[in-house]
Amino acid sequence: MMGRRALYKMLTTSLVAAQQVFLPTDGPTERPQCSCTDDSEPTYSFTSFSYTLTTTVRYATSVPSPSSTTTYAAPPESLATLIPPQSYTTWGRWDPNATAPANDTNDLYGRASWTALWEYANPPNFTETGILSTTVEPTPVPSAELVLPPRDYFGPADCYRFPEGFEFGVSSSASQIEGATAEEGKTPSLMDILVRDDRAKAYVTNEHYYYYKQDIERVAAMGVKHFSFSIAWTRILPFALPGTPVNQEGIDHYNDVIDFIIEKGMVPEITLLHFDTPLQFFGDNLTEAAAPPDIGYVNGAYQNETFPDAFVSYAKVAMTHFADRVATWYTFNEPLLYSHNGQSIYNVLQAHARVYHFYKDELKGQGKLALKFNNNFGVPRDQDSPADVYAADHFNSFQLGPFCNPIFLGKDYPESYKITIHDHVPLTPEDLEYMNGTADFLGIDPYTATVIAPPVPGEKASILECAADYESPYRPYCVNQTTVDVHGWNIGYRSQTYVYITPTYLRSYLSYLWNTWRAPVTLAEFGFPVYGEADKELTDQLLDSPRSVYYLSFMSEVLKAIWEDGVRVIGAFAWSYSDNWEFGDYDAHFGIQTVNRTTQERRYKKSFFDLVDFMKARGVE
Ligand SMILES: *[C@@H]1O[C@H](CO)[C@@H](O)[C@H](O)[C@H]1NC(C)=O
Ligand SMILES: *[C@@H]1O[C@H](CO)[C@@H](O)[C@H](O)[C@H]1NC(C)=O
Ligand SMILES: *[C@@H]1O[C@H](CO)[C@@H](O)[C@H](O)[C@H]1NC(C)=O
Ligand SMILES: *[C@@H]1O[C@H](CO)[C@@H](O)[C@H](O)[C@H]1NC(C)=O
Ligand SMILES: *[C@@H]1O[C@H](CO)[C@@H](O)[C@H](O)[C@H]1NC(C)=O
Ligand SMILES: *[C@@H]1O[C@H](CO)[C@@H](O)[C@H](O)[C@H]1NC(C)=O
Ligand SMILES: *[C@@H]1O[C@H](CO)[C@@H](O)[C@H](O)[C@H]1NC(C)=O
Ligand SMILES: *[C@@H]1O[C@H](CO)[C@@H](O)[C@H](O)[C@H]1NC(C)=O
Repeated sequence: MMGRRALYKMLTTSLVAAQQVFLPTDGPTERPQCSCTDDSEPTYSFTSFSYTLTTTVRYATSVPSPSSTTTYAAPPESLATLIPPQSYTTWGRWDPNATAPANDTNDLYGRASWTALWEYANPPNFTETGILSTTVEPTPVPSAELVLPPRDYFGPADCYRFPEGFEFGVSSSASQIEGATAEEGKTPSLMDILVRDDRAKAYVTNEHYYYYKQDIERVAAMGVKHFSFSIAWTRILPFALPGTPVNQEGIDHYNDVIDFIIEKGMVPEITLLHFDTPLQFFGDNLTEAAAPPDIGYVNGAYQNETFPDAFVSYAKVAMTHFADRVATWYTFNEPLLYSHNGQSIYNVLQAHARVYHFYKDELKGQGKLALKFNNNFGVPRDQDSPADVYAADHFNSFQLGPFCNPIFLGKDYPESYKITIHDHVPLTPEDLEYMNGTADFLGIDPYTATVIAPPVPGEKASILECAADYESPYRPYCVNQTTVDVHGWNIGYRSQTYVYITPTYLRSYLSYLWNTWRAPVTLAEFGFPVYGEADKELTDQLLDSPRSVYYLSFMSEVLKAIWEDGVRVIGAFAWSYSDNWEFGDYDAHFGIQTVNRTTQERRYKKSFFDLVDFMKARGVE
């Protein structure tokens, strides 16, 4: 850029301080590192030409097989006594073409009741059942697939390393990869009715339910240590509610998944609820389930009065079966996005805190427990405008504070939330005491940054007017959210969706999180859907340099946050280890592997190698 140069300066002392400072300057980029004098001239000569270029061929190194096992709780047999006795049964798969309907109508939880749940969900055109119906045995990844790709010409040149114990892994969620949605006893969830509004169907996705061994094998072959996934509540408890029978096939399946992750030398981490709320909580009218909520994007039914007990009961069933082998538990994924109203937020807080107390106090779990939060960090459009700075702080505190204030500080909801959501459920001193300290770290999904200003430029009052008015188009955050900086530039290189490459803002964001909630931070998900990738030739999809830039620049700024800003970052999980179903879309490719939608074949992308190499070169296990 000629004429002007932007310098980024981090201010970590005050929460409302803006992070970006524009310093007007002239002339081209300075090169203080260069020693050549301006008056030296090149000398020219002839040599004999040869095609030979020297390069090193390197192969990815698999994670070593485990030499010892770590346990995080007593074995399932002993933990079973912590919950009421369960009954176990199986239901098999739903066949919408069945000619003889189930006749066990007297059994509340029989095959007929189970089938009725699918008929009620009524997924449209339910014909795509995938190409697999049993678990595929894994095959070793051929070494030809593990050759590192050509490096990008420009890359990080830092000398930092990751601190001891830094967790590097990949993450995913059940409904986005499993497929087999009506098989082995699973009942419908919110995800199975999201497909109603004519979006690409979710029934097949990556068939990970049968392909998990190969998927795990492929990630292990790349040398990644941590494997984070979510379990489907409706596979564990098809009837969702406390006291209903446990699905033996669901328990067996996730036991196999966990055991195979460990067998391959990796560490399993589980999310209990990643958007796939059982349909039971939506009552009799599914149209209402699709109505826009007051707060998030989708109504996740957390406000249902039966939800908290049911969630806690489900968590207890899952934990008593799996906790001996699971290193980290996430209760909720991005709960704000699926919160309907104030009661939803309160129910999530309560249910989460109850699970935490069960895990630590009763089950005596030695693993970690947290939540994964969403928020694309809001930065003030003009850092010199107090109204823009106020707007950014309003935006960030609204998205994180309702959960993080009580959980990390034992403090009430933030004002931004209280003045906007008029039906918020007040937190009593007893609530705050019970919720305080119920997460071991702060899980954040910091995909990108976003530019924030008040609805009316320069007018803080316009934020407050919106907060008072349920009809305002700017709700719920009551700000004008854009992607261009004050000079009209996009804030970073654009992806297929809302994600822009914004590494320097990530560094500020980590400071914001650490200094506000005073807890270690894990990047629980982050990733980049390259623009138009789905339309490219396979070979072009595989050489995904923009995604490498995203990952390497983000991780470079994480290192600066750790070493230069004193921010405690303890883990990073790439979303996702393969392209998947992005809530109605197969074209938003967030993966570091491709998936052939006909054959289900996976292929490593360049960014997968680049990210792993970056991490390993800096000491990550
Ligand atoms: C229900 O159907 C099964 C086979 O479809 C049959 O064996 C059984 O006798 C039936 N039970 C009743 C009560 O009709
Ligand atoms: C139901 O029958 C139709 C027509 O034969 C077939 O195309 C479809 O795959 C079947 N659906 C399932 C889920 O078996
Ligand atoms: C179901 O199939 C019919 C006929 O092929 C098609 O018109 C309709 O759009 C499909 N519905 C959905 C939700 O995919
Ligand atoms: C809440 O969930 C229960 C299932 O536990 C359901 O029977 C009820 O209809 C739901 N309430 C609403 C308002 O949807
Ligand atoms: C379901 O809810 C929608 C939206 O509130 C409403 O329009 C519709 O009449 C309801 N249907 C039934 C059967 O109650
Ligand atoms: C929350 O817990 C922490 C750690 O135990 C404690 O220092 C803090 O005072 C508590 N906060 C409140 C508001 O009680
Ligand atoms: C939001 O701000 C941008 C400038 O960043 C402006 O162009 C746009 O008109 C504003 N949007 C609304 C709806 O006020
Ligand atoms: C998927 O695999 C099939 C069969 O090998 C092949 O014909 C097709 O081109 C592949 N699709 C892509 C996008 O590579």
